[in-house]
Amino acid sequence: MDSAQRANTLVIFGASGDLTQRKLIPALYNLCRKNRLPDNLQIVGVSRTPLSHEAFRAKLRDGAVEFTNHTFDQAAWEAFSERVFYVSGNATQIDDMQRLNAFLCERESGAANRLYYLSTAPALYAPITANLGALQLCTEKEGWRRIVVEKPFGYDLESARALNAALREVFAEHQIYRIDHYLGKETAQNILFLRFANAIFEPLWNRNYIEYIQITVAEQVDVGHRGEYYDESGVLRDMFQNHLLQLLALIAMEPPASFEADAVRNETAKVLKAVRPVAIEDTVRAQYEGYRATKGVALDSQTPTYAALCLYIDNWRWQGVPFYLRSGKAMARKISEVIVRFRRPPHLMFNLPRGHQFEANTLSICIQPHEGIHLKIEVKLPDSYQETRTVDLSFSYRETFGDNALPEAYERLLLDALNGDASLFVRSDGIEISWQIVDPIIQGWQSPEAPPLVMYARGSWGPEAADQLLARRGHHWRQHCGD
Ligand code: BG6
Repeated sequence: MDSAQRANTLVIFGASGDLTQRKLIPALYNLCRKNRLPDNLQIVGVSRTPLSHEAFRAKLRDGAVEFTNHTFDQAAWEAFSERVFYVSGNATQIDDMQRLNAFLCERESGAANRLYYLSTAPALYAPITANLGALQLCTEKEGWRRIVVEKPFGYDLESARALNAALREVFAEHQIYRIDHYLGKETAQNILFLRFANAIFEPLWNRNYIEYIQITVAEQVDVGHRGEYYDESGVLRDMFQNHLLQLLALIAMEPPASFEADAVRNETAKVLKAVRPVAIEDTVRAQYEGYRATKGVALDSQTPTYAALCLYIDNWRWQGVPFYLRSGKAMARKISEVIVRFRRPPHLMFNLPRGHQFEANTLSICIQPHEGIHLKIEVKLPDSYQETRTVDLSFSYRETFGDNALPEAYERLLLDALNGDASLFVRSDGIEISWQIVDPIIQGWQSPEAPPLVMYARGSWGPEAADQLLARRGHHWRQHCGD
């Protein structure tokens, strides 16, 4: 059969969960509305809750109404929902997996491609994968077979290795798509375009011209109903091991020779491997006030909901440049932003007035929510002799491309997985290297020399200790996005 006409099936394990309702289905519905889905794609949800196809579609519709970033269109939804089916069962039980396969084969009627999406509790990833293997549902004789694995990918280095091994028992690396939804964000991808589709930045993108870099991923929401999960994880596992380190890699990597999956992922691995072990005194851990009253959280919980780190990359490009990373919940605003602070001019020939604040150039990449890029430059204040002012050269996605131009991260990632493009997915070594960076910090926090867990007020920008971390090097946190 011509592979273009083959049925394509997306099987979502964990279909009654939050992610399916909030992210996956709204993304698939948006893609369908934009005619971006393969014509012959069907979506089969699997989970233990008994539900009819109709009841499942109705539940998903509520999610699509609430979480789609566009005005909901009933006709488009109806066209989309005809592709959606539901099978109830426990995918860790071989009989149920067999029953699911019988349903899929019946719907596919012949050779088909399949994308399995693991969106269940992480403990089920290995047993579900093993069952797919036991029933040979991973072999690519009659169409491709791929598997998408949601985060968290492991709890530490050891469990991540074990999960990689369990996946590799059944699937080859080219079939495995480890998701980090930050890589699906347009603005994160645009870091590579900004750096490598323009000739003016790269010559400056190194220790000679850059004084420091900051990556902030601040969230206004608190842990909400995820207390039980979160109290086991904490902010380093939840945000740093994946999202912040992936952003760091995009900012700091060497230019890949092409946009091929392995070319990009080789550079990611290389730069993350060059991260120097983080000194424990260069870390700050904090918890927002009131966190311990959350359902599922221990009354004496020591879990940090905020962390700030200063790290260094030991290579020629970045030697000595501090990278400051911070992320937390219940903070003043939702902002993800990368700040690149350039060095000051080596000599100022102007006779600036006493006490004049002269700013070095700062490039701000706003990942969300005010997606854009801003470069602060100094200009001459009109009608002054030698006075300067800091002004902004700015680009805003919304102003340039319109309010609805930015797709949801999951749209891009689902489409890439269906199209077999793994550039924006994390390779096994990338996962393990990130754990190698994060694990020693988590362990270091158990030691007597560790900085104490401090409290910060809800709605603040985090604890004072994080300001001191930068002040020790004569720097301070900058925030431009949304100003
Ligand atoms: C998830 C974390 O990976 O990312 C959540 O588990 C966090 O705790 C979320 O809220 C943030 O994603 P975004 O796209 O809203 O910045």
